[in-house]
Amino acid sequence: ITSQSYVFFIIGASGDLAKRKIYPTLWWLYRDGVLPKNISFIGYSRSQLTIEQIFENSHKYMKIQEDEHDIYEKFLKLNSYISGSYDKSEDFENLNSKANKISHQVNAHRLFYLALPPNVYESVSELISKHCRAASPGWLRLIIEKPFGKDLESSNKFSQHLNKLYTEEEIYRIDHYLGKEMVQNILVLRFSNRIFSRVWNRDSIAGVQIIFKEKIGTHRHGSYFDEVGIIRDVIQNHLMQILSILAMEKPRSTTGEDIRDEKVKVLRCIAPIKLENVIVGQYIGDKKSTDSERQLGYLDDKNVPKDSTTPTYAQIIVFIKNERWDGVPFILRAVRSKALNERKAEIRIQFRDVPGRMFDEELSENNVEGTLARDELVIRIQPDEAIYLKINTKRPGEMNFSIEETELDLTYNERYQGVKLPNAYERLILDVFMGSKINFVRSDELQEAWRIIDPILAEIEKKKLQIIPYKFGAIGIREAFDAAVKQGFIYTRTYVWEDD
Ligand code: BG6
Repeated sequence: ITSQSYVFFIIGASGDLAKRKIYPTLWWLYRDGVLPKNISFIGYSRSQLTIEQIFENSHKYMKIQEDEHDIYEKFLKLNSYISGSYDKSEDFENLNSKANKISHQVNAHRLFYLALPPNVYESVSELISKHCRAASPGWLRLIIEKPFGKDLESSNKFSQHLNKLYTEEEIYRIDHYLGKEMVQNILVLRFSNRIFSRVWNRDSIAGVQIIFKEKIGTHRHGSYFDEVGIIRDVIQNHLMQILSILAMEKPRSTTGEDIRDEKVKVLRCIAPIKLENVIVGQYIGDKKSTDSERQLGYLDDKNVPKDSTTPTYAQIIVFIKNERWDGVPFILRAVRSKALNERKAEIRIQFRDVPGRMFDEELSENNVEGTLARDELVIRIQPDEAIYLKINTKRPGEMNFSIEETELDLTYNERYQGVKLPNAYERLILDVFMGSKINFVRSDELQEAWRIIDPILAEIEKKKLQIIPYKFGAIGIREAFDAAVKQGFIYTRTYVWEDD
């Protein structure tokens, strides 16, 4: 008996995503021996190319080590390439016969990665479903990446299109943040530690911040970014996903459906966002800077229209109307800026003040701003994964009750030296092979995330929201900081706002 074969299709094989992420990821998974034994990979796109050229383009992202050349050659031999259109039946029939031939099985399991521009999603997904399905019992899994539409309506339309052609089971919507170590860890942290599960609610938590900062400007892909803006690019998807895992009720089990049921449920409890809780901004150049890149503002990008109102900064404060979270602000903030605060994604959970204020006198005597700092649990997603809990402690060695803020610190590269954390794409692609749906976005989740965000995008479009300029390089926007403070978030010590 021959063992089951698998065919992995990279549709859009000549493109940027395939080059930078998909081919390298497949190579690493193959190298690490975690893929099924009988596997072949077929690249497909419109360009007349050879598989050697595809590999050449991807080479610098593959990071091949000295002793890996033999296994790399083996991997290369499992790959082939075929060119064809994105809208003609005969080309997909051709792709199908090629797959049958290569895998020597008409019922090989098939995985399709759509690394394509969204304007061809509809036709390609239709042609794959019509012409490239394996004979039973071979299954098909379709992997797609954002953008899933540009608003609620277009996203729903695309979901309906897919639902006509595929079962929800077959669809794997990637949000690569779900493949990150620390995002996956939220579930374990919350539901396997009594110390956290008892306080994970409005009684103890004053506010939650989910922060994304990217130090580069938008110069690498200005025209794409301008159509999307930071809200669609990272808030509607990545930050909203993190929010749902942070805030959901405990799932019945660790199966994909139980977890996703809870995520949708909590998203449904999010109240319509008030405009006063939205701050959007766009960066301007810092003319005084000696760094020529920092002198450029967003509108100086030649791919960006001069009157663009696309936000490069957004802070959205949402409230979850349920018993656990009523009144607790969830502050989602995403910013593209340069310098200072580098590239960062983190979650900051701030606990309420300690009642009773027994130490007030000591605090003022010792001049620690006269208040006790709040406890804060920080989950740093990147860079340098860490979980730390900011707590107050007695300043060591002092004869009195001097209080000092310190950290219980679990920094991964110190505690888990030598442990390799797979990157998000490695995990997620492997999940698709395994049929694990935990880390993929279900259509109802997607719909809810758009339902929440859509009205804000409409307001920006109607130019109803003021776009606040901030300097390329600034740590943020004063108004956003003030809005967070107004909702009860307290910034202390190193975190207080200072005008530059
Ligand atoms: C992508 C966005 O989804 O996520 C990019 O389109 C963003 O604009 C990127 O830079 C961030 O991902 P990561 O894994 O580098 O944090």
